[in-house]
Amino acid sequence: MSEIAKIELEGKIFEFPVVTGTENEKAIDISKLRDITGYVTLDTGYKNTGATKSSITFLDGEKGVLHYRGYAIEELAEKASFLEVAYLLMHGELPTKIELENFESSIKKHTLVHEDMKRFFEAYPAQAHPMGVLSSMICSLSTFYPESLDPHRSKEKKELTMHRLLAKMPTLAAWAYKNSIRHPFMYPKNKYDYCSNFLHMMYAMPTEDYKVDPVVSAALNKLLILHADHEQNCSASTVRMVGSSQANLYSTVSAGICALWGPLHGGANQEVIEMLAQIHEDGGDVDKWVTKAKDKNDPFRLMGFGHRVYKNFDPRANIIRKTCDEVLAKMKINDPMLEIAKRLEQVALEDEYFKSRNLYPNVDFYSGIIYKAMGIPTEMFTVMFALGRLPGWIAQWKEMTENKEPIGRPRQIYTGETYRTFTDIEKR
Ligand code: CMC
Repeated sequence: MSEIAKIELEGKIFEFPVVTGTENEKAIDISKLRDITGYVTLDTGYKNTGATKSSITFLDGEKGVLHYRGYAIEELAEKASFLEVAYLLMHGELPTKIELENFESSIKKHTLVHEDMKRFFEAYPAQAHPMGVLSSMICSLSTFYPESLDPHRSKEKKELTMHRLLAKMPTLAAWAYKNSIRHPFMYPKNKYDYCSNFLHMMYAMPTEDYKVDPVVSAALNKLLILHADHEQNCSASTVRMVGSSQANLYSTVSAGICALWGPLHGGANQEVIEMLAQIHEDGGDVDKWVTKAKDKNDPFRLMGFGHRVYKNFDPRANIIRKTCDEVLAKMKINDPMLEIAKRLEQVALEDEYFKSRNLYPNVDFYSGIIYKAMGIPTEMFTVMFALGRLPGWIAQWKEMTENKEPIGRPRQIYTGETYRTFTDIEKR
């Protein structure tokens, strides 16, 4: 028998269906609540709101579980390539050998961006934050591909738009960096895989030969996979919200990039490394900074700690911590930031304040240290997150459009003035 939830309002009992997910997640379907009762639900920050049904990513915050399309993140990070995971997220199944080859060659075919776009970069000041540049450039792609403006025009065009976006994002991201140091842009080299090509565009120079370090490329592959999707987070929800108005994919993802930029979301990875540098410069007294983080009169927060959903541990953080040790050892780098990060983690994990609030290191706590070892400048950290998250945004958008979800339009509880008459300016 299907479960029913009963809500009693003003002496009357109303019944609502209970929806159960494939991993036994439960929800009360209140989609008819207002029609039947006149009430809406109030849930600022959507802490208890299931905004959609989705078959892309499953996570269990209490148990520290993360699956993409049923596959454990630990296994994917160990065995798959980033494009393989992108295909999985977008299409629901791991690609066969032939499907992967076709997918990779389609992505390679679209890595160049229109030459006119180079001029946009020139107009930005050198100190422009690359996230601002990237979101504008991604939105600008819609002006070069007008056939993308109607996302429902044809299945083939939709697929082409998704491939173009996946192919051009690394080029635009690397060029945002090159532009910030006023170096010439490096064109993509299609003999490379996705990650190596990005590293080539970041670090090669016309004056010298550049050889992609396989250790760096493999670490990047893993980091991008770990970031590839995370169900209905702030930026994915933004993507679904913007996309629900039937805006094109480029502008929709551009909005997702802006949402990711904030320090409480993807921007945390830049904040973490800046925080570790600050603690280092201040003498490395970890206890002092933990005390500051606990002080409610001090705005300082331990960046890279805490998560809306993970209340035990973030499985991505566990993988990244291990990868961080491996990468730094292989590259023979001894970074004092890593030592500070580990001490900070240890002190915080033993502290009652952090324990009672279930605050653990999240995905951003160690990723910055690896990016730093790879030579990625701090301001590019969140761009790296965006590169990784792109297949997730595309998959969320694809699912939302295929399911023909209605335009996102929440309700509110109004708390302002009730009706009053206009007062002439002399009488105010
Ligand atoms: N340092 C100190 N105290 C914290 C921290 C922190 N990093 N995070 C949460 N708290 C405290 C907070 O003050 C509150 O305490 P109290 O109950 O006494 O008022 C309690 O823990 C609950 O925090 P919240 O802000 O209500 O929790 P939330 O679910 O709304 O926010 C969060 C989650 C990730 C925004 C928050 O933990 C945070 O600001 N962390 C630092 C920023 C960060 O690392 N963000 C990256 C998130 S993971 C990457 C991603 O997916 O975007």
